[in-house]
Amino acid sequence: MERQRSFSFKPTRILLFTFTIFSSILFLSTFTIWLTKSTTIPSPLHHHQILLHFNTSSPLTVHSLTTFTKNNLTLTKTPTLIDNRLSRSQKSFTGSKSEAIEHHRVVASNANFSSMHGNGTKVKEVGLVGKSQVSVFMKIEQKEKIVKGCDLTKGYWVFDESYPLYNRDSCPFIDEGFDCEGNGRLDRNFSMWRWQPQGCDLPRFNATKMLELIRGKRLVFVGDSINRNQWESMLCMLLGAVKDPKRVYEARGRKITKEKGNYSFRFLDYQCTVEYYVSHFLVHESKARVGQKRRPTLRIDAIDHGSSRWRGADILVFNTAHWWSHYKTKAGIYYYQEGTVVHPRLNVSTAFRKALSTWASWVDRHVNSKKTEVFFRTSAPSHFRGGNWNSGGHCTEATHPLTETLNSTYPEKNEKNIIIEETIKQMKTPVTLLNITSLSEFRIDGHPSIYGRKTPSSKIQDCSHWCLPGVPDTWNELLFFHLQSK
Ligand SMILES: *[C@@H]1O[C@H](CO)[C@@H](O)[C@H](O)[C@H]1NC(C)=O
Ligand SMILES: *[C@@H]1O[C@H](CO)[C@@H](O)[C@H](O)[C@H]1NC(C)=O
Ligand SMILES: *[C@@H]1O[C@H](CO)[C@@H](O)[C@H](O)[C@H]1NC(C)=O
Ligand SMILES: *[C@@H]1O[C@H](CO)[C@@H](O)[C@H](O)[C@H]1NC(C)=O
Ligand SMILES: *[C@@H]1O[C@H](CO)[C@@H](O)[C@H](O)[C@H]1NC(C)=O
Ligand SMILES: *[C@@H]1O[C@H](CO)[C@@H](O)[C@H](O)[C@H]1NC(C)=O
Ligand SMILES: *[C@@H]1O[C@H](CO)[C@@H](O)[C@H](O)[C@H]1NC(C)=O
Ligand SMILES: *[C@@H]1O[C@H](CO)[C@@H](O)[C@H](O)[C@H]1NC(C)=O
Ligand SMILES: *[C@@H]1O[C@H](CO)[C@@H](O)[C@H](O)[C@H]1NC(C)=O
Ligand SMILES: *[C@@H]1O[C@H](CO)[C@@H](O)[C@H](O)[C@H]1NC(C)=O
Repeated sequence: MERQRSFSFKPTRILLFTFTIFSSILFLSTFTIWLTKSTTIPSPLHHHQILLHFNTSSPLTVHSLTTFTKNNLTLTKTPTLIDNRLSRSQKSFTGSKSEAIEHHRVVASNANFSSMHGNGTKVKEVGLVGKSQVSVFMKIEQKEKIVKGCDLTKGYWVFDESYPLYNRDSCPFIDEGFDCEGNGRLDRNFSMWRWQPQGCDLPRFNATKMLELIRGKRLVFVGDSINRNQWESMLCMLLGAVKDPKRVYEARGRKITKEKGNYSFRFLDYQCTVEYYVSHFLVHESKARVGQKRRPTLRIDAIDHGSSRWRGADILVFNTAHWWSHYKTKAGIYYYQEGTVVHPRLNVSTAFRKALSTWASWVDRHVNSKKTEVFFRTSAPSHFRGGNWNSGGHCTEATHPLTETLNSTYPEKNEKNIIIEETIKQMKTPVTLLNITSLSEFRIDGHPSIYGRKTPSSKIQDCSHWCLPGVPDTWNELLFFHLQSK
């Protein structure tokens, strides 16, 4: 009797119960559809994107990442995937959260991921992928974090067969020192890695767009041979968008050699120039009498005399680092000069800081920040193993990026980078730091090693410069990113 009563519902109760169930389902469906839309439809503030990470030991997982949000970057890599997901989701939503997640998985496994990350098997070797696979819905809670933007300096390299962005046959501007393939390096895999920041994508370099950005302008690189490396990379990448290569030429007909450092390439169709001026220290290399001898000195209080050529540029990309070595600065003994005083002894950090402050004063005085954008590229790491550049150090055996960065043979770079950062902060002119140090640190495989010359030297390897096409192309993708974000 008692039992029977508990089973006998009154009609009003049944009605109430049904209504509650029904409205719960309705609410859940609406809520889930709303959630999905807010993750998939790009709003002016944030773009969302689905990336697939290939994990050979588990099924494919959807990895929802958000791009840099300060600007309206268009992500061209996965539009079909996003469209797919959106339309299918809308068609067959059943209203349950967990089913929705399952649904994404199904769509994802139908997608063509081979065209996105190239050969996925390579991803695993970098070893940094897959640590933070998060489902679409969990990511929403982190919106706050995402809006703050994305650190392009943190990430990993992904093997991507759609790279490199040019090849040596299509670019006559690669000089011997960087022409690894021309000097006999056969494996080209080192040129097929793409930098993948954590939490966003670095847009692929678009030469047409870059040329449009610099139309009628002067893009000027100033610095040591590693800036020449980056400048040659820029020339090669831009040439890809020029129909008639004859309409690109050096203003005074100069051929690129490593001995000279005074070049201005004109892109006629865009009325712009892409220039390079060598300046090892950015300050003036001089000579002074010390005792009986005239010695080479470095005027850390005077800007490089070539600075008149930098003036009036629209985009300036500076660097200096490698020449501030014990060896090249005479160990700081009777080398650094201020006014008429040649310091008997000065340590590198002190001298570097003074020189940078000289540079900073020059920029603040001579650069019109309304017209000119200023960049400073941080130190590029060297990768000599088993010795220094002049004592048998080598890197020729490296065919893959490092999975983690080891101690490089150039530890001073971090100290220099800090000085650069501190100097920039005190300037009146806004300067963008092109922080390429960490991402390049992985790329032990990117150096010319024995392929920096047609006839290799048996002893000396080049583990400081970079093969082209190669790592400096990524630095230019970063530069491109910053320019198009303005
Ligand atoms: C972003 O897009 C919106 C809408 O299309 C536009 O109004 C805005 O100017 C864009 N912002 C930038 C920085 O391009
Ligand atoms: C996937 O994309 C690659 C490269 O774009 C293409 O060659 C291949 O045919 C595509 N496969 C499928 C199944 O669509
Ligand atoms: C991907 O890499 C693996 C191992 O390196 C190789 O066997 C395979 O042929 C590659 N696939 C493609 C499509 O290049
Ligand atoms: C791949 O997935 C498995 C299982 O989920 C996980 O244990 C492993 O760490 C993942 N591998 C990588 C490289 O993320
Ligand atoms: C280069 O990559 C291809 C495809 O992934 C692979 O088959 C080959 O073994 C790699 N070569 C070297 C020298 O690592
Ligand atoms: C490159 O930029 C140009 C000009 O902005 C644009 O028309 C073109 O579609 C872009 N190419 C790609 C592949 O995004
Ligand atoms: C660069 O070339 C110009 C024009 O030929 C010349 O006036 C200038 O002195 C040169 N600068 C350097 C640093 O060689
Ligand atoms: C360089 O000299 C400064 C000032 O004398 C000192 O504070 C700093 O520790 C020195 N640095 C090195 C690396 O010797
Ligand atoms: C890196 O350098 C530090 C300090 O110089 C040293 O203690 C450490 O063992 C080094 N690590 C490796 C992997 O060489
Ligand atoms: C450059 O980026 C790396 C990696 O995020 C970071 O550790 C380093 O502090 C940055 N350097 C500067 C000078 O900002």
